[in-house]
Amino acid sequence: QAHPLIDPFGRAISYLRISVTDRCDLRCVYCMQEHMTFLPREELLTFEELERLGRLFIRLGTTKLRITGGEPLVRRDVMQLIASLGQDIGQDGAMGGLQELTLTTNGSQLARHAAALVHAGMRRINVSLDTLNPDRFRTITRGGRLEQTLDGLLAAKAAGLHIKINTVALRGLNEDEIDDLIAWCGMQGFDLCLIETMPLGETGENRLDQYLPLSVLRPKLERRWTLTRELKPETAVTGIAPGPARYWRIAETGGRIGFITPLTEHFCDSCNRVRLTCTGTLFMCLGQEDQADLRTPLRAGASDQDMEMLVRDAIARKPHKHDFMIAPDAPQKQLTRHMSVTGG
Ligand code: GTP
Ligand code: 5AD
Ligand code: SF4
Repeated sequence: QAHPLIDPFGRAISYLRISVTDRCDLRCVYCMQEHMTFLPREELLTFEELERLGRLFIRLGTTKLRITGGEPLVRRDVMQLIASLGQDIGQDGAMGGLQELTLTTNGSQLARHAAALVHAGMRRINVSLDTLNPDRFRTITRGGRLEQTLDGLLAAKAAGLHIKINTVALRGLNEDEIDDLIAWCGMQGFDLCLIETMPLGETGENRLDQYLPLSVLRPKLERRWTLTRELKPETAVTGIAPGPARYWRIAETGGRIGFITPLTEHFCDSCNRVRLTCTGTLFMCLGQEDQADLRTPLRAGASDQDMEMLVRDAIARKPHKHDFMIAPDAPQKQLTRHMSVTGG
């Protein structure tokens, strides 16, 4: 008798995000420090280990797998892992089986990989892009080339992938460009998601300076764009309802805009996810330290049953919500772990 993973708050955990590397070829100012020390390679789970854990979660009711990083496409031979996991899509399992395999990427390596992603069974991907201005792109990513990401996006579009752009809304950095991003995404047929920056890891920058509450931005956007709330986001592409974003339809472009508001309106009540890091640590919440080391037992020869028990124990400790806060007068709660470790 199979039992799905249900946390103490009655939430079914059906979405696993797997970070395959902490490395990235960019250094976004809200994500990383200018100089980062990355993990030595022996710390990383091998593809065999990642596949074993991925398949364990699929047996336990995971229907959606997302590959993240760091930048997932900079891990050598990552397409082998993606192709292998892709074979599970649509195969019936005791609890439904894998329905969607997807990716969050900065797009820099997409031009090389877009066709192979489709071949592996991916239908949509999320691409991080905070500006359409090459100089700003260089500033925000500390040295990246916008053109490389745009080339990647065009290749992904040409390969037939549905694309969602993730834009972290940054005060003074890209807030005057959101209209352009809306128009451009509309033209390209991309969804756009705006994200509030979260206090994860030291970046050498002042988060309070960067933080732009979307509760303030949205009314401003509504002066220019006609936004209609989409209560039931269309799930036509995959049949799975999207995650934390709340979506609006934009009459003028026909496109969609999503708002991801961990700080001004959290979405933890409908959380359905946990995160596996590239070193085999399971994090139960992006904004909390609750974790379970799966690598040690895995390498000590634990059976599938043992591993299942460890995962169930971990899910039983999933916290109710994050308690991120960015405010001038409040004690800032900042986790030391960077976003690139747990993959957003
Ligand atoms: P869809 O499948 O398109 O719904 O994507 P997703 O939102 O699940 O994944 P994506 O990688 O695009 O996530 C976008 C951003 O949303 C992340 O980088 C985070 O900033 C934020 N986010 C995603 N999940 C969580 C979460 O559980 N908690 C918090 N606080 N933020 C999250
Ligand atoms: N707060 C919010 N989003 C972040 N990202 C990286 N760091 C942060 C942060 N501190 C975003 C990236 C990407 C996604 C994986 O996470 O821009 O869209
Ligand atoms: Fe790299 Fe993504 Fe972090 Fe930017 S946000 S430095 S692209 S991992």
